[in-house]
Amino acid sequence: MRLLRQGVMALGAGAFAATLLAFAGPAFRGEADAAMEPPVNPVKLKPVSAFADIKNPNERAVALFEEAGKVLMSPRCMNCHPATERPTQTNKMTPHQPLVVRGEGGMGAAGGLACNTCHHETNFDPAGVPGHPQWHLAPAEMAWQGKSLGQICEQIKDPKRNDGKDMAALVKHMAEDSLVGWAWAPGANRTPAPGSQKEFGDLIKAWAAAGAACPKIVANTRG
Ligand code: HEC
Ligand code: HEC
Repeated sequence: MRLLRQGVMALGAGAFAATLLAFAGPAFRGEADAAMEPPVNPVKLKPVSAFADIKNPNERAVALFEEAGKVLMSPRCMNCHPATERPTQTNKMTPHQPLVVRGEGGMGAAGGLACNTCHHETNFDPAGVPGHPQWHLAPAEMAWQGKSLGQICEQIKDPKRNDGKDMAALVKHMAEDSLVGWAWAPGANRTPAPGSQKEFGDLIKAWAAAGAACPKIVANTRG
């Protein structure tokens, strides 16, 4: 009799636990998936072929650059190309916490916090810290935040402001540089840049081949 009662109780407890799991299960599974699978950027890049029917080369170049601009204007690039001396972070591009500044060579201020104190060779997802062996801030003359796509286009083509790069070097940098490439594997729960570095590189190559015209610079009404 005692055995039977224990058996029934165990059965009851088991059924209770199973019910709880049935409720909690999907939520737990959802969280586990979110932790394992990085977010996908809903913005896609059109292939170069989508621009083939624009016969005027300048118009085609502008359209190609505007498509590539979905990447250039993404927070993954912008956060390292800030308007001030301080990087920004997250999709909202808020000022970097703690306060760090560009300093010598973009590595952080002398006597202040060096970037590689926290940013190591690879992403460290448990703490959400992005990483790369060359993690440092773009120089002031390569600031993009607050600028229009047309202004950024003129600036990146200008050897005086792009570290002396000719068009071939500029294209190679965007298509192949691994620090640029970090933007598609940013770790933790960061949204990657749209498309892939290959698709982005192909758009930039086609832009250069069409003569590298820039979108018109519209007057900055923000003063
Ligand atoms: C971790 C910081 C960091 C990130 C993220 C980053 N950059 Fe940069 N970028 C730099 C630095 C630093 C330079 C200066 C050149 C160098 O040292 O490699 C630079 C230079 C450039 C240049 C040279 C020309 C110029 O005027 O800016 C281009 C083009 C560029 N980056 C594109 C990108 C793109 C596209 C992305 C995103 C897909 C990106 N960068 C993300 C740090 C970054
Ligand atoms: C005290 C530690 C620390 C130091 C020093 C530090 N960072 Fe960071 N940084 C972080 C952490 C943590 C994050 C992630 C914050 C988040 O995503 O919420 C971060 C995020 C960033 C991001 C945003 C990435 C993105 O797209 O969201 C950039 C850009 C960045 N850091 C650049 C720098 C640069 C450049 C330096 C040196 C001048 C530097 N950091 C120094 C801790 C640090």
